[in-house]
Amino acid sequence: MFPARLASLFGFVLIAIAAAVQGVRLDVPRVEDFVRRWNVAATVIGDYVYIDGGEINQFENGTIDEAPVYQVNSTLSIDISTSWTTSDVSIRTIGKPNAPRNAPMIWTDKEGTGGFYSWGGVFSLGRSVTGSEMWKFSADGRGGGSWSPFQDFANPEAFKILLSLERGAYANTDDKGFLIGGSVWGWTYLDTQAIPGMVSFDMRTKEISNGTANDAGSNRSPLEKLIGARAHFIPANTGTKSHQGLILVLGGHRSYVDRQCSLEDSPGFDFRNLLFFDPETGERYWQIATGDILPYPRAHFCVTGFTVARVGYDVFIFGRRNEAQQSYYDDAYILSLPGFVWILVPTPPAGPRFFQSVFTIIFTMNPH
Ligand SMILES: *[C@@H]1O[C@H](CO)[C@@H](O)[C@H](O)[C@H]1NC(C)=O
Ligand SMILES: *[C@@H]1O[C@H](CO)[C@@H](O)[C@H](O)[C@H]1NC(C)=O
Ligand SMILES: *[C@@H]1O[C@H](CO)[C@@H](O)[C@H](O)[C@H]1NC(C)=O
Repeated sequence: MFPARLASLFGFVLIAIAAAVQGVRLDVPRVEDFVRRWNVAATVIGDYVYIDGGEINQFENGTIDEAPVYQVNSTLSIDISTSWTTSDVSIRTIGKPNAPRNAPMIWTDKEGTGGFYSWGGVFSLGRSVTGSEMWKFSADGRGGGSWSPFQDFANPEAFKILLSLERGAYANTDDKGFLIGGSVWGWTYLDTQAIPGMVSFDMRTKEISNGTANDAGSNRSPLEKLIGARAHFIPANTGTKSHQGLILVLGGHRSYVDRQCSLEDSPGFDFRNLLFFDPETGERYWQIATGDILPYPRAHFCVTGFTVARVGYDVFIFGRRNEAQQSYYDDAYILSLPGFVWILVPTPPAGPRFFQSVFTIIFTMNPH
């Protein structure tokens, strides 16, 4: 059983370690100057990984004792139809008119040549966010694409009153995007505060809604407040009872409704009692998991998953920040569905990380 699972791990690429090649300086520095990238949002569209936002540290002028941090001003793409290593990967830069942000939320739309919506996050290096704007990146199917401000909401007045937030948990189905919880903070607004509810966006009708935990129906938020969590869409026919798939909400912190939120002393969500919701009906399900239950609190980790043998699904999670102890970790776990069993991955990817991105690439084996 285990060799098969480990083999499938080779399908994961950790964006945080994506190195760089000689070429355009700074957004993609030379390999020997590259130190780290973090706080990006990444998605796979067709044969390409697109990486947006975040910051990069790199050496400059031959100095090795100082690696200044820069905001990343372009959107990056990597061809995943060919093989590469982190030292010879070719990373393309795509111009970006919108202000670069750290940890923006993205919803991926695979229709046509595909693209993604981007909203929220925080401006790099402490600059204040000025108003709420949603942008759409339209991919061209060849590793490029272009950005434009997205204004075609079916109900623009509903978008206008939404706060641009960060640290929410986002996920999307083929036609709907969700953003659960999140917060705004002192750099952006007067007070740091948790934002209740869940924003959902229908990518076909272009209608945006904001529901709370007390609402009924498909706009209902699965939780009242949630910060630093992750969400992951599990497709239908993978061992869950839903016909349209389910969204799994993992980790993060509860937040107090009546005080400013500090993650250090907000209780974390555990990984034994798992929360799922149905993206069509809003129905919530709690499910007890067994096995190697993950330590918590756990925030700002990364999550992806893959179908197993056409009947099950493995959710992979890696890294985390423990806000209570101000420390971070390099542990990796798999949640195996439909058994709901957590398995500690015996050989975690090297080095503790948080605020990283991970995604699944499905390789089709050539029979010859
Ligand atoms: C991004 O643009 C800003 C403002 O022009 C600049 O200071 C920064 O160095 C650029 N970042 C990179 C990685 O080139
Ligand atoms: C690198 O050299 C340039 C030109 O002398 C200077 O403007 C820049 O500040 C230097 N960067 C660092 C990090 O020392
Ligand atoms: C969603 O609605 C709740 C309740 O009215 C509100 O407090 C919250 O700020 C709204 N969310 C966003 C992102 O604006």
